[in-house]
Amino acid sequence: MSDVRVSAQEMREVCGLADRAPSLFNSQPWQWRGGGDFLELLLDRSLELPETDPDKRELVISNGVALQHALLALRARGWLVNVLRLPDASEPELLARIEVLGRGDPAPGDGALVRAARRREVDRREYAPVPVPPSVLAELASAGAAAQVSVITGDQRRAVAQAFARAARVHAASDRYRAELASWTGMASWSADGAPETGVPWRAREHDDLVVRDFGWAEAAGVDPASNGAAGCLLLISTGADDRDAHLRAGEALGALLCRAELAGLASCPLSEALEVRGTRALVRREALADAGHPQMMVRVGWPRPADGSPRHRT
Ligand SMILES: Cc1cc2nc3c(=O)[nH]c(=O)nc-3n(C[C@H](O)[C@H](O)[C@H](O)COP(=O)(O)O)c2cc1C
Repeated sequence: MSDVRVSAQEMREVCGLADRAPSLFNSQPWQWRGGGDFLELLLDRSLELPETDPDKRELVISNGVALQHALLALRARGWLVNVLRLPDASEPELLARIEVLGRGDPAPGDGALVRAARRREVDRREYAPVPVPPSVLAELASAGAAAQVSVITGDQRRAVAQAFARAARVHAASDRYRAELASWTGMASWSADGAPETGVPWRAREHDDLVVRDFGWAEAAGVDPASNGAAGCLLLISTGADDRDAHLRAGEALGALLCRAELAGLASCPLSEALEVRGTRALVRREALADAGHPQMMVRVGWPRPADGSPRHRT
């Protein structure tokens, strides 16, 4: 046993930050196992979403984000760590083992990224019609260097938008998908999991090119889901392989990209529906990646609109 010891309280705080990671339908499908000099990330199979994520790809991606958050939290506290991904073939649920090697200096900026991870939340609203500078997009891409990140524009964006619309139609026609979605959404705000009715637009704004996932609330509020304000830049995270290791790394890339976006003051929203239906995932692969690489996640980023504030009698 090494003489490195992270206190139990500190490990709890590290896991606390990691548990802030975004996950499909906020399912948080992970568990932690640890000691003073290691932390293990285990996939929680009881939280699979078989209709939405039949290949369990997003299950692992969600875990990858939690892994990235845990590593960030440890490094920001000055711990030197080594990561073993999929370390034990006899325990397939064990996705990563983080070994704590000793004390070092936190990388400059890690503290700010931890605060960004704590603050970040999905923003499904329309974004301000102000372009995100290419230099900022390049920063996001380099933050997500655990995988490849590309900016989707022009004809590629049109093709991807079609894929989202088609996937939404496939999902809308599936009773089983809709039942699964319903069981995970519209939770009361005090529920510990599932996607609560926050971060969702309640008023239609102008139409945009992307059909974003209809969580059902917009319909309940009489809002056309297709007009859920989808402006913003579209980023695609892809990998060379399409196995568990690749899915885990795609999640790590997603986590790093989202933290960096938050730090830059950008609003962000992961988008995965077009990649959940086999045919539309193949379409995105062909049109956006020329069949080289595998699409894993998409993210919409943009400048948040100023808050409307409380109404007044005279405007
Ligand atoms: C793998 C993955 C897929 C996701 N897909 C979508 C999506 O298609 N649409 C969406 O609005 N949010 C999506 N999200 C965001 C989650 O719904 C969100 O992170 C979760 O509800 C928790 O909310 P928070 O990020 O504000 O903490 C996805 C997140 C992950 C990690």
